[in-house]
This record gives sequence, structure tokens and C-alpha cells, in this order.
Amino acid sequence: MQKRPRKCRESSFLIAIFLLLISCTSSTADREDYSPKFQQYYVQGGVLYQQYCSNCHQSNGKGLGRLYPPVDQSDFMEDNFEEVVCIIKYGKQGSLRVNDVDYNMTMKGNTNLTELEVAEITTFIYNTWSHKKGLVNVKEVTHILSSCNN
Ligand code: HEC
Repeated sequence: MQKRPRKCRESSFLIAIFLLLISCTSSTADREDYSPKFQQYYVQGGVLYQQYCSNCHQSNGKGLGRLYPPVDQSDFMEDNFEEVVCIIKYGKQGSLRVNDVDYNMTMKGNTNLTELEVAEITTFIYNTWSHKKGLVNVKEVTHILSSCNN
């Protein structure tokens, strides 16, 4: 009978430690943007963006008139994250609406890109200009790519 309260105190102590650990972990997640992994993805993603995307979407992400939609301030990107990951790898044709402008063009896929490279480009475009999504890691991208409609 005497042991019970002590056990109880011990376990509430453990729960307190556990909660403390959880709160530490989540505050690290808030600071994800400054992690070395984020920086590595972001820098590499920027290089790849220049190489694979800026011809059409432009270095400033604003696109080109009615030919190429913007990737800066794109409501399509905000609303269709998973589809964007698929578009980067597999391309897109047919009609598409970005910020109330209709496009009906073709973007070729980049099937030569590795899953890591797709994750890096995605991290770059979702953290430059108006977007602030944080790290998009390769695990998430692999999962999304496995269910694209292609
Ligand atoms: C040859 C030109 C071209 C290149 C290169 C290109 N795109 Fe596109 N992209 C387009 C066109 C055209 C569309 C619209 C397709 C449609 O109308 O269905 C599009 C659509 C998109 C969209 C969805 C619409 C939007 O703007 O939110 C995203 C996101 C996007 N591209 C990102 C990229 C990324 C990232 C790369 C580099 C890996 C890339 N594109 C390379 C021409 C291009």
C-alpha cells in the first residue's frame, strides 16, 4: 500500500519528461528551415531549378505571359502540392488554372530526375518567393511519386 503512491509519482515524473521531450522535438521541427538538411536540399534545388525549370518559369518564378504559369504566388501550387510533385517528374498537359488564368499547354516530364532531385526542386520552389512550406524530404516525395496518375 505504501509503494503505490511512490510508483505513481515516478510515473508522473516520467510522463513529465516525456512531454518535455515532445515539446523539444516539435520546437526543433519549427526551426527546420535552418537545419543543414534543409539548406542542402534548398541550395541543390536552386541549381536544379535554374537548369530544368527557369527557361520557362523564369528565374524570378513569374512565368511568361499566357505561355508558362508562375510558380511564384501560384494558388495552384498551394492547393495541389502532391500533383505538383508528380508534374515535376511526369509533366502535365491539358487545361490548368493558376490565379484565375487558364493555361492549356504541355510541360514535358523530367523522368531522368532522381527522387532526391525532385525533393530538392520541390523544397526550392516551395520555399522561395511567396511559398514557405519548409523541407520536403525524399521519403515524402517517394511516397507521392508512387501514386501519380501516369
Ligand atoms: C518547356 C517549358 C517548361 C519547363 C522547362 C518546365 N515547365 Fe512547368 N509548366 C510549363 C507549362 C506550359 C505548364 C502548364 C501545363 C498545362 O497547361 O497543363 C507548367 C506547369 C507547371 C506547374 C503547375 C502550374 C503552376 O505554375 O503552379 C508547376 C508547379 C511547374 N510547372 C513547375 C515546374 C518545375 C519545378 C520545373 C522544373 C523541374 C518545370 N516546371 C519545368 C512549362 C515548363
